[in-house]
Amino acid sequence: MAQPISTKLLLPGLSLFVFETPEQASVWVADQMVPLINSSKPPVLGLATGSTPIKLYAELIKRYKEGQISFKRTTTFNLDEYAIEHSHPLSYHSFMDTNLFNHVDIPRESINVPNGSLLLKENNDQEVEEHCKSYELKIASHGGLDLQILGIGRTGHIGFNEPGSDEKTKTRKIEIHTVTRQDAIREFGSIDLVPKTSITMGVSTILGAKRVILLAFGSSKAPIISQLLSEERLTTPSPQIPASYLFGHSNVQIVLDRQAAEQLEKE
Ligand code: GLP
Repeated sequence: MAQPISTKLLLPGLSLFVFETPEQASVWVADQMVPLINSSKPPVLGLATGSTPIKLYAELIKRYKEGQISFKRTTTFNLDEYAIEHSHPLSYHSFMDTNLFNHVDIPRESINVPNGSLLLKENNDQEVEEHCKSYELKIASHGGLDLQILGIGRTGHIGFNEPGSDEKTKTRKIEIHTVTRQDAIREFGSIDLVPKTSITMGVSTILGAKRVILLAFGSSKAPIISQLLSEERLTTPSPQIPASYLFGHSNVQIVLDRQAAEQLEKE
């Protein structure tokens, strides 16, 4: 069992867990997921992309290979997708296949990722809108998300809910913030190659999950984590930091490594 180096109840229903390393944090989150994935009710998972959950997915693959879990009855909904073809190596479709789906027994028809390729066609607003509505309806038809895994962007975004996104937002097309696009140069190689728009679940879609686990690792996340967990934000969520709307939810765990927690006030 991975043990946190510190835990704190920040608000009723909102807990902070700090681990020495991302590996230990990921093992702990996988431990939380095993009973859900094995439960008698078919599980519905909300999944995230980015570098942060990669170790968690590797841990889930390991547990699948050890025979601890099967994804045969699991349905997944990903948070977001770029304006990109599914087959593009940097699409979130490709990311999920490479980092999780290709290595476990999830049926292809149980996998849902927003169709960002719709954004590549011109004058396609209506089709995009219909797709977003049907994504919401599909989540609802499965009884909602049992667990949403989240990372956080340096802008305070969850999914691609950039600053300005409030707690009423639903699945929709959104412009990606310049800071987020700059961070994506790491993968795409140059700013011109980073998509400008995406489809993302809304903040309200995320808040509809029964449980939320937000992960943040590394010192680049320390400033946004300290702003997010400031006294002011804990009491007054703001669209300037969309992740702060999680504080209105009754079952949220924020899971950090030591580096992401380094700017938090010590008690
Ligand atoms: C992207 C994704 C987010 C993710 C964020 C952080 O913008 N849309 O869902 O949380 O990146 O990425 P990383 O985990 O690589 O820091």
